[in-house]
Amino acid sequence: MYFDTTPKTKRIDLFGRNFLLDTLISYSKDQSVRMIVLKGLRRTGKTSLLNVALAETKLTYLKIDVREAPYYDRREFMAYLIEKIKDKIGESLFHKIIKYISKIEVSYKDISTAFFLQIEQKFPTFFERLNEELEKKNEILMLAFDEVQLLHKIKFEYNFAAIYDDYKQIKLILTGSEMGLLDEFLGKRDAESPLYGRALIELEVPKFNEEETRSFLLKGFEQLKKNISHEEIKEVISNFDGIIGWATQYGWFRNQGKSHSQTISTVLEEGIKLTRKELDNFLANRNKSKYLKILNWISKGYNQWALIKHQFVNEENALSDRQLQLYLRELLDYGFIVKISENYFVTDPLLLRSVT
Ligand SMILES: Nc1ncnc2c1ncn2[C@@H]1O[C@H](COP(=O)(O)OP(=O)(O)O)[C@@H](O)[C@H]1O
Ligand SMILES: [Mg+2]
Repeated sequence: MYFDTTPKTKRIDLFGRNFLLDTLISYSKDQSVRMIVLKGLRRTGKTSLLNVALAETKLTYLKIDVREAPYYDRREFMAYLIEKIKDKIGESLFHKIIKYISKIEVSYKDISTAFFLQIEQKFPTFFERLNEELEKKNEILMLAFDEVQLLHKIKFEYNFAAIYDDYKQIKLILTGSEMGLLDEFLGKRDAESPLYGRALIELEVPKFNEEETRSFLLKGFEQLKKNISHEEIKEVISNFDGIIGWATQYGWFRNQGKSHSQTISTVLEEGIKLTRKELDNFLANRNKSKYLKILNWISKGYNQWALIKHQFVNEENALSDRQLQLYLRELLDYGFIVKISENYFVTDPLLLRSVT
């Protein structure tokens, strides 16, 4: 069903992504591809696409939702990852690996204490042994990290570079919403960065256009054996753009029996709260008022560098070029705005509403 609001796990529930999905699957199976990256704005369907692709490849895989992992602490994250790998490969193989690399006696049930104390030293050896075991079985393990850019905080790209270079039985699939941060994680901006220069396949999950969104709504309502009028469709598109996450929520509430106008207000209200929370998280340690001004001006059409700069001058609120550059860069990096030729746009209509 299209209007189920949890990330999709089956192709049949995934609207309009067959081509992307097939591409993703064929790269996943391609021996020569070591790393695949799925990028796209929030709520465009990356997690859904990843879920379905992983399920369909029939390879052994492990998916880590980085947002739910302890991504703020290197050692804790390593322990978390190893624990998940243990669940995947099974206790006996896991124990074999641990026993081999560990002089210390590790309890059969958990790796916490002794192993955890030395986890940073043992981590590479763990992967080396894991790789050898996979090789013996002629098996590929797909490690998928959803919202991987969060791992930049703990410099996990160093570990990914090692996996990429040395452990050929392990393949990486990464997703990210905050695309500038993702680029940074992938080392695209800095030759000193660990993942710099590694070949990777990058797929972008775009917003849907108007026609696609219309078709999504029509088909979704057809699945429910309900009707949606052309006026209603128009209003959904004008409020939520082609962000499928919002359209899905709209369909879900309609299916619960809410009227069109009630549903529009509910999705707006909740969406504005959510996008504002995402923005507030970003603003927490930043110059809040400057960022909000910039977003506001962009939303009012002062959406070029010189126009924004001019607004600051008008307010007698001087801002150096370097500062403005930084603020815009950060808003771009975190996916709150996009730049199309010389113009900046707020990416999500609900975020736009939350700042105006
Ligand atoms: N192609 C699709 N067809 C149907 N529903 C989708 C599709 N893509 C995403 N969704 C729905 O949109 C919402 C956001 O999807 P999700 O995969 O979590 O996006 P992302 O990971 O990019 O933030 C979810 O409710 C999901 O079920
Ligand atoms: Mg996601």
